[in-house]
Amino acid sequence: MNENMQNQPPLTRRNFIKTSSAVAVGVTAAVNFPSVLRGQAAQTFNAAIIGCGGRGMGAGRNFLDAAKAAGVEAKIVAAADIFPEASKKAKDNFGVADDACFSGWDGYQKALAVPGVNYAIIAGPPGVRPFHFKAAVETGKHCFIEKPVAADGPGCRIMYECYEKSKQKGLKVAAGTQRRHQATYIDTVKRIQDGAIGDVQFMRAYWVNGGPIWHRGDKGETEMEKQVRNWYHYIWLSGDHICEQHVHNIDVCNWVMNATPVKAWGSGGRGSLGNKSGHIWDHFAIEFEYANGVRMYSYCGQQKRTWSSVSESIHGSKGFSNPSGTIMPKDGARIRSAAKGLDPYVQEHVDLLNSIVKSTDLNEAKQVTDSTLTAIMGREAAYSGALVEWDQILNSKFTYTPAKMEWGPAPIVPVPEPGQHDIFKA
Ligand SMILES: NC(=O)c1ccc[n+]([C@@H]2O[C@H](COP(=O)([O-])OP(=O)(O)OC[C@H]3O[C@@H](n4cnc5c(N)ncnc54)[C@H](O)[C@@H]3O)[C@@H](O)[C@H]2O)c1
Repeated sequence: MNENMQNQPPLTRRNFIKTSSAVAVGVTAAVNFPSVLRGQAAQTFNAAIIGCGGRGMGAGRNFLDAAKAAGVEAKIVAAADIFPEASKKAKDNFGVADDACFSGWDGYQKALAVPGVNYAIIAGPPGVRPFHFKAAVETGKHCFIEKPVAADGPGCRIMYECYEKSKQKGLKVAAGTQRRHQATYIDTVKRIQDGAIGDVQFMRAYWVNGGPIWHRGDKGETEMEKQVRNWYHYIWLSGDHICEQHVHNIDVCNWVMNATPVKAWGSGGRGSLGNKSGHIWDHFAIEFEYANGVRMYSYCGQQKRTWSSVSESIHGSKGFSNPSGTIMPKDGARIRSAAKGLDPYVQEHVDLLNSIVKSTDLNEAKQVTDSTLTAIMGREAAYSGALVEWDQILNSKFTYTPAKMEWGPAPIVPVPEPGQHDIFKA
């Protein structure tokens, strides 16, 4: 099962209506409803979607639902995808004008240049996220950026620079790490940080999922097209599974600790993927260590399994927590969070709209880059067979990204092999 299948039903008229009305019901009941937005002077949000796949379309729908809930005007007025048939989905789903649906390697620049665009929904593959975010920040857009936000150290450094620029410009940024916008998580993480389970001693993070990831075959006239169409299987585009999906669980642990780990070591490999094209692995087991000695044990994989779990658990001196909503003290009754909120996929846009209208602080670009880099540190430790430290990965020059972003030949990188793979070469 892939993450998109798990979290986002396919966009059909029927489930669009179902989702919209579910949100409307949630709004009347939700404590997180942004009352600040009600009755505000009209401010119209004009969004451009960059990356019109499953999540781009889903996030577009979430943005419109959030605006409706908040009582602000919102439209999707531009779209870009590298493939024209994908950007056309924005026309079919949201009525974006033909001449505002762009494709090609520079389509994102054209979409951001459409007059009136003030909100960018950036949902292409992670490896191109830094370039898309950079362009959005340079052109002064508030941004929703999907996770993860890069595939290597150089990509993360672009993200950190753009975070600084976006702060200077007063732009607001929300990231697709939606657990940070989910009421029960917010409540439970706060309880942990307030000492409900004592001192954190260790944490476990799982994305040990129910089955192999999609593989779209080798379609395309050039090697570059084949890789982009099948992007998950190429490290430069997806960052591999530990980064692409497990970043959610890693992010929760970083959130609990309010820190990033200082080093990582571990192992993994490529089992179920066999001879399929691509060079990612399909399972990782990594130990991350924070500066205070606390460790995060992280397991992720996409193989046929009879046991699976997508979760985190936090173990403290006085108890244990599943931070999605439960505290289990050693000497007391279980506490289940009763916090109520909207669907977190909608709430993240509500929070972003709210921060723009109210001019409050919301910029999640750094925290999502921190968690992306954490995942990359773990991945590179496993690929290389070495212990990797935070500063090494942060400053690493090695990139998987081809020198030229254009249709044509593309490097075919070997599957990383511990002992052979050297991430610290320039
Ligand atoms: N937060 C969540 O729970 C969640 C859920 C699903 C997906 N996601 C994230 O959303 C992102 C996209 O995932 P998806 O499931 O929509 O994949 P997808 O394959 O359905 O869509 C990706 C789209 O990006 C396009 N694309 C590729 N290269 C591009 C480029 N250079 N410029 C513009 N467009 C380009 C592709 O053609 C495709 O249409 C991933 O980073 C994924 O992790 C997050």
